[in-house]
Amino acid sequence: MERQINKHTTYIGVDDTDLDLFEGQYKLDEGVSYNSYLIQDEKIAVMDTVDARMGDEWMDLLKTNLGSRIPDYLIVHHMEPDHASCIEWLMNLYPTLTAVCTQKAAALMTRFFETDFSQRLHIVKEGDTINLGQVTLSFIMAPMVHWPEVMMSYDSLNGTLFSADAFGKFGALSLTADGSKGLGSIWGDKHEWACEARRYYFNIVGKYGPMVQNVLKKTSALNLQTICPLHGPILHDDLSYFTDLYNTWSSYTPETPGVFIAYCSLHGNTEQAALMLQDMIQARNIKVAVSDLRRDDMAEAVEDAFRYPQLIICAPTYDGNLMPVMHDFLHHLQLKNYQRRRVAIIENGSWAPMAGKKMAEMLGQMKDMEIIEPMISIPSRVTGEVEQQLKELAEKL
Ligand code: FEO
Repeated sequence: MERQINKHTTYIGVDDTDLDLFEGQYKLDEGVSYNSYLIQDEKIAVMDTVDARMGDEWMDLLKTNLGSRIPDYLIVHHMEPDHASCIEWLMNLYPTLTAVCTQKAAALMTRFFETDFSQRLHIVKEGDTINLGQVTLSFIMAPMVHWPEVMMSYDSLNGTLFSADAFGKFGALSLTADGSKGLGSIWGDKHEWACEARRYYFNIVGKYGPMVQNVLKKTSALNLQTICPLHGPILHDDLSYFTDLYNTWSSYTPETPGVFIAYCSLHGNTEQAALMLQDMIQARNIKVAVSDLRRDDMAEAVEDAFRYPQLIICAPTYDGNLMPVMHDFLHHLQLKNYQRRRVAIIENGSWAPMAGKKMAEMLGQMKDMEIIEPMISIPSRVTGEVEQQLKELAEKL
């Protein structure tokens, strides 16, 4: 059956293909899935709900899979509304349902929901377990992956980790609502996973690398067979590929040798320098990714800044300061705890260049950054002297 994960667990997540911006800011070209799971044993546990946008479809799936049975537990791994906004609805529908969550999740419920569920909560902490029959769920605290109340749970019988937002990915799974004739699959393909999983990780969870490292240490001791995240496909084959990437990302280690050039330009001169530099670096057989910050996806630019060990930032002066889109990019990197990279600065300014100073100030607030000297200052147009400086920079990368 298309949605069956193992003998006990069924995928009851839903696709959202109409949402254009995830968290109101991240572009979705291929939608997103809100994942929920149903464990049916002597007792029944519903693993998270979904965004209310897709609540009707999810409730139909849940009821279809339950038949005449009544769920015993709702396991709440994360209280962000893309997973939690149907909790109140479900708890009111099944008055005997107990919600299992952390103390911090319980506090968040009082903020998000009108109904007081405090008498129907089972609060858990690290190592606590709940027995469902053959399946026992043990709980792993995962604070700040990606909110403070987050936990994961582990079914040791089936080797299944319910990993909350960790290992999530943008992109709908393209399953049909009833799970009978969808074109997609619930299973992740390692050849397709990393691109959108990386964009998701660095933009959603990237700030919290040390917390991800903590939880990876805990889960590395488990006999993992399957990872069930709250977004994107379920991971089963070659799990070390996925966990190794998470280890690389969360330790702020560059993943791919090469250079990322992020630029903006007012009249094309700064762009000309950025693209000339791209050609010079490519001529040395070094991989280069380039982003025009004015037009390209900011979340992709953030992703590529983390992906490569070396970053070149090129921007003109504007209003005695920095062109705003470059300021926005560097602000994003600051928020995401960007660190441990080599960076070269290329500025442009026609009468009082300030962009380089402002970019250096923002980089100076980041941890363990190596600035490649000297900064290149374009005097309005790309002169022969600038071209020579670009060549010398390319040689240093
Ligand atoms: Fe998918 Fe942090 O919510």
